[in-house]
Amino acid sequence: MNFIDLKRQYHLYKGEIDGAIKDVVESGRFVLGDQVKSLEKELGLFTGAPYAIGVSSGTDALILCLMALGVGPGKVVVTTPFSFFATVEAILLLGAEPAFCDIDPDTFNLDPGLLEDVLDGLLSDGRDVCGVIAVSLYGQCADFQRINRICEKRGLFVIEDACQSLGASFKDKMSGNLTPLAATSFFPSKPLGCFGDGGMVFTKSEPLFERIRALRVHGDTGRYQHKYIGLNARLDEIQAAVLRVKLRHFKKEIELRQDAAKRYSMLLQTLEDQGLIKLPRILQDSQSVFAQYTIRILSGGRDEVARFLKEQGVPTAVHYPEILPKMKPLEGRIFKREAFNRAELAARQVLSLPMHAFIEEREQEQVAEALSKAFEVI
Ligand SMILES: Cc1ncc(COP(=O)(O)O)c(C=O)c1O
Repeated sequence: MNFIDLKRQYHLYKGEIDGAIKDVVESGRFVLGDQVKSLEKELGLFTGAPYAIGVSSGTDALILCLMALGVGPGKVVVTTPFSFFATVEAILLLGAEPAFCDIDPDTFNLDPGLLEDVLDGLLSDGRDVCGVIAVSLYGQCADFQRINRICEKRGLFVIEDACQSLGASFKDKMSGNLTPLAATSFFPSKPLGCFGDGGMVFTKSEPLFERIRALRVHGDTGRYQHKYIGLNARLDEIQAAVLRVKLRHFKKEIELRQDAAKRYSMLLQTLEDQGLIKLPRILQDSQSVFAQYTIRILSGGRDEVARFLKEQGVPTAVHYPEILPKMKPLEGRIFKREAFNRAELAARQVLSLPMHAFIEEREQEQVAEALSKAFEVI
């Protein structure tokens, strides 16, 4: 059994994908051509975001958002302590300072109930807070209705790190279109993944769109008219062509992921009733794309359970074993060393189970059986 089975997906669409790649090769146009333009248009329509910019990765998408907003030394950006390192890395790379707001223990996303106090605390300490990056972790959107309201009141920007959540929705709006700026990733294991690295920025703002489009090509606004110091952060044509094929099947795949998640929750309900695990919680009016199906191990020790599952042929992953404020590159770079007890507990308990659109019922049953057995023997 694979944790994510990309080969299974490829073989299902092989004819279409091979054809799309061949067309690009034969066109002789490999960078920022019609494929990228069409993908931007199609994903703009898919998310509802007025502007989309294809870029080289989710990390670069985040960096470009922050560059476009003028984030730099002396500025503070608030984010979640519980995410992939790239979220905080983008802030650090621009020379700004990250600050953190603990998570909602049910969704693992930044808790808007704590955000006002965090922001007001920083502002009253005289910190130059400029905005918030909230992550839509494991495929479920953060509560951007509340986060946006809190930030608007204080004149702060909001970015959705949608690297795990493309295809999810919250209160009838798609991930990517919940905030003025959003960044997603097409890393192969993401819900919509390409055959290498890729990403996209979504925005509602025409000036930000223009600026980010320039920033992705060395700040170039015309032929060799360099208005800004930018990056080489382009999406290439082959990746865009592969993504356009996969996008045609994406809605169906989202449904399959949601069916698989429902099946896991049914198969694992007894273990939750026995207090051994906690199943994922999805907020009302929220549709997760289940980039991960992540449970909490409440008994027996997460790492022992993972080891036992591996012996039984069930691969798992820990997203993430350490919280961001405790990572080595942050030493001496944060204003106050605070405790983030909810994120710390999550880092000790979370375990992601095999999940993809084409996981079979018998594989999920095998996971559930192995998990029950783990609690008997550990
Ligand atoms: C939450 C989050 N942010 C940012 C990224 C960075 O995306 P990429 O790997 O495309 O640079 C990822 C990808 O793993 C992610 O999961």
